[in-house]
Amino acid sequence: MLGGMTASTLTRFWDACAASFDDEPDHGLTDPRVRAAWQRRMRGWLPTAPADVLDAGCGTGSLAALAAADGHRVTGVDLAPEMIAQARGKFAAAGLPGRFAVGDAADPPTGDARFDVVLCRHLLWTLPDPHAALAAWTARLRPGGRLVLIEGRWGRQDDPVTPYVPEAAGLPWPGGVPAADLARAVAPLTPRVEPLHDDADLWGRPVHDERYALIAR
Ligand SMILES: C[S@@+](CC[C@H](N)C(=O)[O-])C[C@H]1O[C@@H](n2cnc3c(N)ncnc32)[C@H](O)[C@@H]1O
Repeated sequence: MLGGMTASTLTRFWDACAASFDDEPDHGLTDPRVRAAWQRRMRGWLPTAPADVLDAGCGTGSLAALAAADGHRVTGVDLAPEMIAQARGKFAAAGLPGRFAVGDAADPPTGDARFDVVLCRHLLWTLPDPHAALAAWTARLRPGGRLVLIEGRWGRQDDPVTPYVPEAAGLPWPGGVPAADLARAVAPLTPRVEPLHDDADLWGRPVHDERYALIAR
């Protein structure tokens, strides 16, 4: 839930990012080496296709597109209409099937649909109540389903984090979340943590902060 934050401020921020979002190597996956690195990881995190995958906070849909290209049935949800427009355009250009909706990923507007996977990259840090979102996603998993959470704690742990919009001042995980904290937060699911900061191909450059995938079942 967006709680006390004004959705319009956040939406405007992310809408403004949408056109150039894919310029970052790990966002657009246009570099074949970066794309291959994510594709390899995704194949290890997702079950055998076809699975129903909800991409929460899908942005421009790059990871969703990797999943769809491997035969998964993908639904992407994002707060920002311009992000969803980019994602839809990406799927159309690649001839990939996918469903997209504008909405709050913490309470996805997907009715009573259940998923084999809830996939989420780099969203939890900007949610007002990430614990509630994790509970909502877990409730939408089919029996045997999994959360695939790609997160990190960017910068130094003791660095103060400047809110990216004024309303983000009260976020609980503003600079990201260490894997150990997220592992506790997904209970009663059982987490497996895969470090990602040692794989420069994923990011298009070496990185020195904490980055990981947490698969919880
Ligand atoms: C850092 S981007 C990550 C995008 C995508 N998951 C990726 O890894 O390329 C964060 C995304 O979360 C979206 N977002 C922020 N708050 C959201 C919310 N409450 N519900 C849905 N999407 C949200 C933004 O619009 C943005 O597209």
